[in-house]
Amino acid sequence: MLDLRAIRAEFPILAQSMTGGPLVYLDNAATVQKPLFVLEAMDHYYRTINANVHRGVHTLSQRATDAFEEARKKVQKHIGAAEIHEVIWVRGTTEAVNLVAHGFRSLLVPGDEILVSSIEHHSNLVPWQMLSQGTGATLKTIPMLPNGTLDQEAYERLLNHKTKLVAFNHISNALGTVNPVKKMAAQAKAVGAAVFVDGAQAVPHQSIDVMDLGVDFYAFSGHKMYGPTGIGILYGTTEWLEKLPPYMGGGEMIKKVTLTSSTYAGLPHKFEAGTPDIAGAIGLGAAIDWMQSIGMDRIAHHEKELLVYGQSVLQKIEGLIEYGTAPDKAAVLSFGLKGVHPYDLGTLLDQQGIAVRTGHHCAQPIMCALDIPGTVRASIAVYTTKEEWDALADGIRRAAHMLQ
Ligand SMILES: Cc1ncc(COP(=O)(O)O)c(C=O)c1O
Repeated sequence: MLDLRAIRAEFPILAQSMTGGPLVYLDNAATVQKPLFVLEAMDHYYRTINANVHRGVHTLSQRATDAFEEARKKVQKHIGAAEIHEVIWVRGTTEAVNLVAHGFRSLLVPGDEILVSSIEHHSNLVPWQMLSQGTGATLKTIPMLPNGTLDQEAYERLLNHKTKLVAFNHISNALGTVNPVKKMAAQAKAVGAAVFVDGAQAVPHQSIDVMDLGVDFYAFSGHKMYGPTGIGILYGTTEWLEKLPPYMGGGEMIKKVTLTSSTYAGLPHKFEAGTPDIAGAIGLGAAIDWMQSIGMDRIAHHEKELLVYGQSVLQKIEGLIEYGTAPDKAAVLSFGLKGVHPYDLGTLLDQQGIAVRTGHHCAQPIMCALDIPGTVRASIAVYTTKEEWDALADGIRRAAHMLQ
């Protein structure tokens, strides 16, 4: 059992009232709240260490560099990467996908195939479309079954010797589907394809071991895992990161510069042009410490129980339709109410202090496949309580009554 009272005390933002009642924050898949532990780590950095990294001989700069690199080490250990230089700081998942897609421009030729799942956040789809347009490689998609899982038979059929890269998420932000990453990665590797996994919705909810998963790239965002916005991680194997050209040019990523050409620094600096988000990296490192102090297995267990409870509560509501009924689901419940536009339901819930997300959740192809304008999405974090699910259910009933 988690001490939810102690955990929630770390989040003063949750204690505020909203429209006269307690705030019920169920928009955690969009971004989670930040514990005091993380806020204080960043505050401490700015108050006592602030200096640029990797450049100065002075003491503060060395302290900043140490704190920054220590945070990278925490990420490495947290995700089980073999080498510290396989952890690249980026702005978030979106930048990580773009970095890799940009790098593959020099590796693909017409006739090659890129295989992307059809249940992706736009950030793990649009960059691959741009890659296909820029290289002449063909973009193919793994179809979704009606329950929101990927069609694994179709996946196997689509994989072939022309497939150079396969991209899919670990957990869908729109439906909560958990994909069988290890199996899919092994199948892609068997045809020689590189495997890119968007882990934005998985890292906050379970322990990750990139080596065990057998992926070549794994990306996630700090702000969805109790860290700050503006910082994220691209993990890549040394072999692949060495093959890819730099993404951005500038300071920090070079070895030698003349007026007409440059040579590039080794990993990870080759991909980290310019002054990085130092406080953000330190905050992300603190977020990892904070999650580990609770324990990833305990977080996963608690959230599984909460999700099952949420499902049981919502299923009792007349006219409620759950979208995405994969046998393996995590952290997200997406639903609609018969005859009600998701936006109207979301607005009426907001008026009751309940924060949910409505719309296509940056996954328009999923909504198109389900033939709906969007869903209402309630998503949980470690601090979510059963009472909040009850409040949501009451809120939906009240909204339905008002709309009749
Ligand atoms: C599965 C998934 N991938 C990618 C992203 C994009 O993350 P960011 O906006 O932090 O780059 C999100 C954000 O909602 C997401 O849920």
